[in-house]
Amino acid sequence: MIHQYDVVIVGAGIAGLTAGLQASETCKVAVISKVYAPRSHSGSAQGGMAAALGNEEDDCWEWHMFDTVKGGDYLVDQDMAEILAREAPERVIELEHLGVPFSRNEAGKIEQRRFGGHTRNLGEAPVKRSCYASDRTGRVIMDTLYDNCLVRGVKIYNEVFVMSLLISKGKCCGVSGYALATGEPIVFHAKAVLLATGGCGRIFKTTSMSFAATGDGFAAAFNAGVALEDMEFVQFHPTGIYGLGILVSEAARAEGGILRNGKGDRFMERYASTLKDLAPRDIISRAILTEIAEGRGVEGSDYVYLDLSHLRKAMQEQKLSEVTSFVKTYLGIDATKDPIPVAPTCHYMMGGVPTDAQGRVLADGKTQSLPGLYAAGECACVSVHGANRLGTNSLVDLVVFGKRAGKDISNYVKENPLQLFPTDAESAVATKIDSLLASTGNERMGEIRSEMQRTMTQQCSVFRDNNNLKQALNKIRQLKNRFGNIGLTSKGKAFNYELEDALELENMLNLAEIIVFCALQRQESRGSHYRNDYPERDDAGWLKHTLAAKVQNGLQINYKHVTVTRFEPKARVY
Ligand code: FUM
Repeated sequence: MIHQYDVVIVGAGIAGLTAGLQASETCKVAVISKVYAPRSHSGSAQGGMAAALGNEEDDCWEWHMFDTVKGGDYLVDQDMAEILAREAPERVIELEHLGVPFSRNEAGKIEQRRFGGHTRNLGEAPVKRSCYASDRTGRVIMDTLYDNCLVRGVKIYNEVFVMSLLISKGKCCGVSGYALATGEPIVFHAKAVLLATGGCGRIFKTTSMSFAATGDGFAAAFNAGVALEDMEFVQFHPTGIYGLGILVSEAARAEGGILRNGKGDRFMERYASTLKDLAPRDIISRAILTEIAEGRGVEGSDYVYLDLSHLRKAMQEQKLSEVTSFVKTYLGIDATKDPIPVAPTCHYMMGGVPTDAQGRVLADGKTQSLPGLYAAGECACVSVHGANRLGTNSLVDLVVFGKRAGKDISNYVKENPLQLFPTDAESAVATKIDSLLASTGNERMGEIRSEMQRTMTQQCSVFRDNNNLKQALNKIRQLKNRFGNIGLTSKGKAFNYELEDALELENMLNLAEIIVFCALQRQESRGSHYRNDYPERDDAGWLKHTLAAKVQNGLQINYKHVTVTRFEPKARVY
């Protein structure tokens, strides 16, 4: 089946819907979702959206920009961080006008709370900068955008798996994939395509990301020849529910929650004496794992406690509704009485598809654009998060750069004719699906996936070193070979989850290889990328972005400079 639109947006989370809503002012827009669209992963964003509104305390965009740059361990492109911080307040107000029910303070203004690494006056003390709606901020923003998109006539396609970008005469002119319900090929022919497919946390054993976060957008761009940027930087959120990885929002610490080791000590005082439990995530995740490695986990185990028992008021005021209900549901814990067992969980990819400030994809990661192709949100890398993202800087990234992409797409669509798409677009999908359904190999996908997740978690997560990374690279490459010999037992076409699993696993194996490969090259420690064998940050050698491209014999690594405008790199003390 072939559909034709001005623009097709892949991904129905906040970035995709923001761009779609903007573009719908002048264009015919389709949004495609692999899941039922309202279940997109942005809906699970809990804590808030950073913007220097100053509703609670003095604040300004320059402080926000500084915190973003320092939080990202100076790998942030500062011109982009300036856009993020400057435009954030306007985007929050715009969302409010669209109908987002933000929580209110007593003066009736949007309420704001503290979050890790956000400070006043360039690091003096925490500042209340994160606008929120209880601890369901992503949910209400996404639902509001979704409603507005429907009103504007944006067409939503649920349960379509996008496999490839269509490129013709050097321009992107659509996507191809298949309908999960029927297994039949489906082509979206358009003047412009925006990738907004989120992250790939499912590469790791424990993640706060949804099951759909398998990196399909990264993979589609990479397979179309786009170099991926800074893929070695993977964020681990300090407080995943132990064993499950489901997020306990940083909002819990923003409201006063305290991390304690097995001895009951507030250990963050030793690692970040000013910000303590509200230090950036990379620092807290390493601190937790150091406490555990040195025998101070709870009862000798591999978790610590998050103590919220003194926060009855915040809970009664519904500031932590999701957190309290999650721990009740999953652990049977009453957070007003008992501490919550937590450990770091894979939460966010700082790297991704390189774009400029308008969301235009840069195929070589530097200057060479791929006309018609855009990216926004977690799958994109406009480089505002550098080596470590600050909490609540994600939602603001989605709307600031989602909106900019939507605007640019409108102009692009006006100025460019519809390009003919490759004639084999549908048949290539059918061939791929048929060959997977006909596969009879003896490798099982579940085993390959578990081994990939175990390898990435043990050898390429919070702490890394040369030996482990080399072993991980070998292992992932072996798993890729084994994947070539899988056999699908389910041969039907309607909602064949084994087929979907196979496509997702192939994407994840390729991305795992890229992450490990890039991590192996970077011989320094910066933000979320910590090398035991190179424990210092090395600005002379490594203040540069990594670019990983597909070449005939594997991967090719390249580098590009980091844009420094206002803030010279300094030691990162909290
Ligand atoms: O902890 C949280 O609520 C997560 C927020 C974020 O990643 O921005």
